[in-house]
Amino acid sequence: MTGIAVVSGSASGIGRGIALKLAAQGFDLVLLDLDEAALAPVAGEITAQGRRALALRADVTDGARLAELRAQMLERLGAPTVIVNCAGWSVIAPFVETGAAFWDKAISVNLTGTIALTRVFLDDLITANGGRIVNIASDAGRVGSTGEVVYAAAKGGVIAFSKSLAREMARHNITVNCVCPGPTATPMLLVQDPKRIDALTRAVPLRRLAEPADIAGAVAYFAGPDAGYVTGQVLSVSGGLTMAG
Ligand SMILES: NC(=O)c1ccc[n+]([C@@H]2O[C@H](COP(=O)([O-])OP(=O)(O)OC[C@H]3O[C@@H](n4cnc5c(N)ncnc54)[C@H](O)[C@@H]3O)[C@@H](O)[C@H]2O)c1
Repeated sequence: MTGIAVVSGSASGIGRGIALKLAAQGFDLVLLDLDEAALAPVAGEITAQGRRALALRADVTDGARLAELRAQMLERLGAPTVIVNCAGWSVIAPFVETGAAFWDKAISVNLTGTIALTRVFLDDLITANGGRIVNIASDAGRVGSTGEVVYAAAKGGVIAFSKSLAREMARHNITVNCVCPGPTATPMLLVQDPKRIDALTRAVPLRRLAEPADIAGAVAYFAGPDAGYVTGQVLSVSGGLTMAG
């Protein structure tokens, strides 16, 4: 498979796993993250696989800056064929103990960031009359999550955004799908109370946390040749923790 994939949040965890998987599938990568230092080794792993990698510091909530980065990317690598929105933010806290600044951050990183990054690259996919968008939502957005009330609202928004965009973009041969990770062994989860992680792990029918590679496989499917007729879909990769209808 060839093409250029843009992956936000690719300095860490699931986004890093997705970038490495897509590189292994033959994609060149544009790596976007707030954490520029942590992007460098990921870019190194990708170039070691023989693929091209462009690592750019980006805040997905800053649409104007994203537009500048798009210009750089077109000049240095070319137009994207796959967009993966994976940058995310969550801190566990009871809703009643959170306030406006916390809600704003949860919504702006997880939902507005997905909308803004998608908008910046959408014209390139429309011009090419084809492309794939894969949004990393969360099972929190499908079934709810204690301690993640506003995050769950934002991820539910990502799912609704993806389905509606899938309808609008179908005539341009652009598919839009969501992957919903269950609890996954990344820095975002592993900073949580070990008791919560233990309880989550025991609740998973397959009896382990997901690894980033588990999630990346689902993303590679939606980005790959076998998923050309699949759009507006939501796939949970959660070891069976959630079995949403
Ligand atoms: N780990 C889990 O259990 C889990 C479960 C469900 C969904 N998810 C989702 O998976 C995605 C990846 O999470 P992860 O577990 O790998 O977390 P992580 O914390 O390891 O990685 C998140 C990355 O996003 C980057 N980021 C944060 N805000 C950003 C911004 N404004 N602009 C650009 N980059 C930004 C961070 O720097 C980091 O590199 C997120 O969307 C998260 O909500 C994770």
